[in-house]
Order: sequence, then structure tokens, then C-alpha cells
Amino acid sequence: MKLSLDTADLEEIREAARWGVLRGVTTNPSTIAKAQSDFLPLVKEICSLVEGDVSVETTTNDSDLLVAQGREIAQIADNAVVKIAMTANGLAAVRRLSDEGIKVNVTLTFTPAQGILAAEAGAYIVSPFLGRLDDIATDSMKVLADICDIYAIQGYDTQVLAASLRHPMHVVEAARLGADIATMPFTVFESLVKHPLTDAGFKRFSDDWENARPHLGELLPSMQEA
Ligand code: E4P
Repeated sequence: MKLSLDTADLEEIREAARWGVLRGVTTNPSTIAKAQSDFLPLVKEICSLVEGDVSVETTTNDSDLLVAQGREIAQIADNAVVKIAMTANGLAAVRRLSDEGIKVNVTLTFTPAQGILAAEAGAYIVSPFLGRLDDIATDSMKVLADICDIYAIQGYDTQVLAASLRHPMHVVEAARLGADIATMPFTVFESLVKHPLTDAGFKRFSDDWENARPHLGELLPSMQEA
């Protein structure tokens, strides 16, 4: 499962990219607004920071305008993916853009039925929103599992991107159920790496090493620098 950041914050993207496990970025109008930067330079910079897909959301529900925006977004960079909301007009635009070979991420997806529509329209990615389903007391993992199962049974190529992730277990469950991609805020990304036993274990090893070091004789050159 590819790990993706859901942010337009360049510092967060640079930091996650530095770890060597970042495979993409998703943005939306809310995260773009939060970044408070000029839109086009910001999106170009994000696309240059990651090798994987960068989803950039459209801002209309008019099919013709969606197609026009989609064509322009696809021109921003080779890894720019057009994000379109799951509406009837959106589906019509997904069909037209997909037929032109443009990659589309169908966002704001909340049911397996919507997942089927996205795949049938030729979407490159479908994004079920897990956290927002949990917020209204709906079993988001059942929705994700159903979409993954249906896609496998039907042989759909559309990638399933688990979105609206709020905590590390959302990520773990998404991987277990077979999601192709998981996108998350930087706080969740960070929480994947942290464990108190790792911190405690590292401190104990470091302390033991420092205490024994004067008696360990010849070390590797890089160990002498550490
Ligand atoms: C994904 O593409 C969405 O931008 C994102 O996951 C939405 O997350 P939220 O429900 O936390 O806003």
C-alpha cells in the first residue's frame, strides 16, 4: 500500500519525503486554502517534491468546466492527477477525461455503489472517505472492504485510496483490507513511526553504548563520529 500525505504544507511534504516512504500527495480546496500560497506555484512545487501521484481538486460541478479544469490540471506536471467529486456531472467528466487518457481521482466517495460508478467511468483512483463515515456512526471499514472486494471480483483497474484517515489503526486496517493507497494528515503519518518502547529501547542501547565505549577499543570510523 502506497503512503500518501493529505496536505498542501510544503514543510510537511519535504519532511515525509525525507523519510523515503512517501509515494504521493492529495490536496483539496481546504488544504490549499490553509497553505495560504499562490495556487499554481504551490501545486507545481508539490509535484516536484514527490515522485508519485499528486491529486489536485477541481472547483466546479459543471461537466464542461470540469473537463476544462481537468485538462489544465493534467498539464501542470506528469504526476498531477485530477480530483473530481462523486456527482452525476462529475462522472460525466470522469468518463470524458479518462477517454482522453487523463488520470482522475474520484473523491467524496462514501458507498460501494459510488465505488462501482467511479470504476465504470474509468477512474484511475477512487477515494472512499473513512473518517467522515465514522463521524456519522457508519462502519467505514465495511465500506472500504466492500469496495476492495468488488474491485477484485470485477477486475477493475481503478486504485482504491483510503482517505480521511484520522489515526494509525485506520492505516493498518486499510492495508489489511487491500487498499492500494492510504492518504493521511502529517500528524497521522508521524504517529505511524512512533512507539514508546522504540524510544525507551533506543535510549537504553545508547546509554549502554556510551558507558562501554571507552573500553571497546577500535571502532568503525563513522562510530567515532557519532
Ligand atoms: C483525500 O483526498 C481528502 O482530501 C482527505 O482525506 C479528506 O480528509 P478529511 O475528512 O480529514 O478532511
